[in-house]
Amino acid sequence: MRDSLGREIDYMRISVTDRCNLRCRYCMPEGIALSPARELLTFEEIELVSQAAAELGIRRFKITGGEPLVRRGCPKLIGRLRRIPKVEQVTLTTNGVLLGDFLDELLENGLDGVNISLDTLNADLYQQITGLDELERVREGIYKAVESGLRVKINTVLQRGVNDSEWEALTGFAREIPVDVRFIELMPIGFGEKQKGVDGNEILSMLRKKYPQMEKDDRIHGNGPAVYYRIPGFEGCVGFICAVHRKFCASCNRIRLTAKGELKPCLCYGDCVDLRRVVREGAYQEIKGAIWEAVIRKPKMHCFETEEGVTECRRMVEIGG
Ligand code: GTP
Ligand code: 5AD
Ligand code: SF4
Repeated sequence: MRDSLGREIDYMRISVTDRCNLRCRYCMPEGIALSPARELLTFEEIELVSQAAAELGIRRFKITGGEPLVRRGCPKLIGRLRRIPKVEQVTLTTNGVLLGDFLDELLENGLDGVNISLDTLNADLYQQITGLDELERVREGIYKAVESGLRVKINTVLQRGVNDSEWEALTGFAREIPVDVRFIELMPIGFGEKQKGVDGNEILSMLRKKYPQMEKDDRIHGNGPAVYYRIPGFEGCVGFICAVHRKFCASCNRIRLTAKGELKPCLCYGDCVDLRRVVREGAYQEIKGAIWEAVIRKPKMHCFETEEGVTECRRMVEIGG
């Protein structure tokens, strides 16, 4: 599918739940209201939407949340999507707490890769950021996933005055094991507007100083907007997703399905298509029409610098990043 600006849309992110087993302040602080189960798409409904999307040209799916692994049956859903004709890849973005427990089942169901959110390697700081003492389980999950041969990326969001010096320790992961460590700029959306982020260019300059032989690596690593660098002697790469300081919307390839079945043309854009209504009341062909509608409505770029954009994205847990 091509949108009105000629961008090829072949990637769909699917949030399967707005629940999470951690409480990162910039994403899901205490006290946030959750959607009742009946408001969420069932796995059968998600499969139907994915099948229609694949027939229209979506080739890769990202399963996200909230925390996708807290929804029972998530690995089976991955298997069902993986078996849809023409689908080339199904990957998962998780906080890693339950990864070790579910890894075998995920692999049996054909998972193609996993991105793990991890903002620090310091146990106290981890608890401060996420509200829980789960760092060891996440580490174990990462090692187990790497040993299984699965493609693993670490997502790190740096917050000024909280974990801004953690880039050094986290880069150490890419030295030891074949994982790509990516620094994501905190976006002023969801609850991220309350914290201060760190400009990716700042981390890049510090890395350049520490590793002068670092080189840009243009081989493609994923579906996303990350830019990668290689450091001689390192097993993995270091990546940057600079959503604030280097907008990448001109090469956007994606649409997003929220847990409640809204199809979002852009991460930060209110004009959603109510796919849940179409799935529950309409015919199969209408689902395809609704997906096209979202692609046609895709804006040129995000608007999270504006009041409206920030309000639209308050429920990041439903959108899944
Ligand atoms: P892969 O490279 O295929 O693993 O995809 P990805 O990098 O898109 O996946 P991931 O789920 O790990 O997302 C990483 C971060 O990038 C998250 O914090 C997302 O919020 C952010 N991100 C992903 N897509 C977009 C986008 O379209 N716009 C913006 N502004 N940020 C995005
Ligand atoms: N800005 C940037 N990244 C965010 N995430 C959640 N909220 C934000 C935000 N406001 C990240 C998580 C996870 C990914 C799916 O989204 O840290 O790595
Ligand atoms: Fe695409 Fe919107 Fe993300 Fe920009 S912010 S890359 S337009 S989804």
